[in-house]
Amino acid sequence: MALAGRDVLSVFDLSDSEIREVMDLADQMARHVRGKTDICSGKVMAALFYEPSTRTRLSFESAMQRLGGDVITCADISSSSVAKGETLADTVRIVESYADVIVMRHPLEGSAVLGADYARAPVVNAGDGAHEHPTQTLLDLYTLRKEHGSIEGAWVMLVGDLKYGRAAHSFAYGLARFKANVVCVAPQGLEMERQTLRRLERQYGCKPRQFNTLEQVMKDDDLLAAAADKSAEDTKTRAMALFDAIYVTRVQKERFPSAEAFEKAKSSYAVDLRVLKEVRADTLVMHPLPRVDELDYGIDTDLRAAYFRQAAYGVPVRMALITAILGGAGKPVGEEGWLGRQLPAADWSGRCANPNCVTAKETYAEPRFVREADGEPVLCYYCERPVENADG
Ligand code: NCD
Repeated sequence: MALAGRDVLSVFDLSDSEIREVMDLADQMARHVRGKTDICSGKVMAALFYEPSTRTRLSFESAMQRLGGDVITCADISSSSVAKGETLADTVRIVESYADVIVMRHPLEGSAVLGADYARAPVVNAGDGAHEHPTQTLLDLYTLRKEHGSIEGAWVMLVGDLKYGRAAHSFAYGLARFKANVVCVAPQGLEMERQTLRRLERQYGCKPRQFNTLEQVMKDDDLLAAAADKSAEDTKTRAMALFDAIYVTRVQKERFPSAEAFEKAKSSYAVDLRVLKEVRADTLVMHPLPRVDELDYGIDTDLRAAYFRQAAYGVPVRMALITAILGGAGKPVGEEGWLGRQLPAADWSGRCANPNCVTAKETYAEPRFVREADGEPVLCYYCERPVENADG
C-alpha cells in the first residue's frame, strides 16, 4: 500500500482510496483480534503519550501485539527525560532509533507535525491538542460503514464541544470528503471554529447547518422536510429521524482557559432515552469516549448505542493502519500528505500567537506560515490557526 513509511498526522495525509484500503484491511484484521499473527514480527512501535489515554493507547498497543510486533512505551511521560527539559525534537530523534513507528499524543496543536519533521521514522498522530485525531476518524468512518452500510449520503449529527474536540474536527473532514451530510449541534461558545468550517467548505464544499441545542434540531422545518423525503413512514413526522448517526462528544474540560468557562458549558446537552425516542430504530449513537454526563447510562443496552462496539473497532483498524505503514521502508518527502506541506509558503514573519501551538513551547521550531490561496488568511504551518492581523 502506498502508505508504507508515511506519516499520518491529519486526515489530509490519507487519500480516499487509502482510507478505503485501511477499512478493507481492517475487515480482514477483525479475524485476528483475539489471536496473534506474525504480520509485523520483528517490528517495534513506540507509544509516546504526553496526555492521558485509555482507548487510543491500549488499542494501538493491542493492535501491535496482535500483529506479532513489540511495543515500547513510557508508562508516564513525566518520568521520562521530558521532566528534565528534553525537547520534543530530541525525544523523537532518540525514540526513532529504538522503534520503527512512533505513535504520539501531545497536548499542543501541531506537535505531531513538529515530531514528524524531526523523525525519520513514520509518526502517527494520536491526538494533538484541540487540533486533529486522524486515527479516531478511521475507526469512526469504519463504524459508520460497517454498521450503517455506507458513508456516502449518510446524515450525521455532530453533538457537543466542536470547538476543542479534535475527534470531531477530524471526523467532520472525513465525513465531508466521503459526501456525508453533516449537521453541527454545539452549545453557545463551543461551536466549530471558523477555520474548520472554512476548510470544510474549501476542500469539500461542505457547509454544515449549525444549531445550539437538540431542541432546535427537533423543531427545524428543513430537516423535517428532508426526513419526510426518506422513504420509511415513521420518518415523516420527526426531524431527528433524518439522522443515520449521532456522534456525541464530551466537553473538553482540559482545554478550557478557565474553570468558570467550563462550568458554564458542562451538562448543557445529553443523549438519553428521550432523544432515542426521536431518532429511528436503526440510528447509531456514536461517541469517541470517554463520556462524562452527555450520554445517559440508560441507553447503553439499546442496540443503537454503538460506542462500545466503536471503541472495539479501534483494534482491527489500527492493526490495518500499522500494517500499511510498516509495509515498506523509507519516508518519502515531497508533495504528498499533510496539507500544510502542500500549501505555498506565506510571506509573513513573526511567531504564531496561539498559546496552544507547539511553537509556543518548542521555541527552537522555525516559525512557518502558509496560505491556502490569495485572499485567504495566513495560517501557521503547525497548528493551522489563522495568524491575526497578518494582512494589516
Ligand atoms: C478522544 C480524544 O482523546 O480526543 N478520545 C479518544 O481518543 N477515544 C475524545 C475525548 O477525549 O473526548
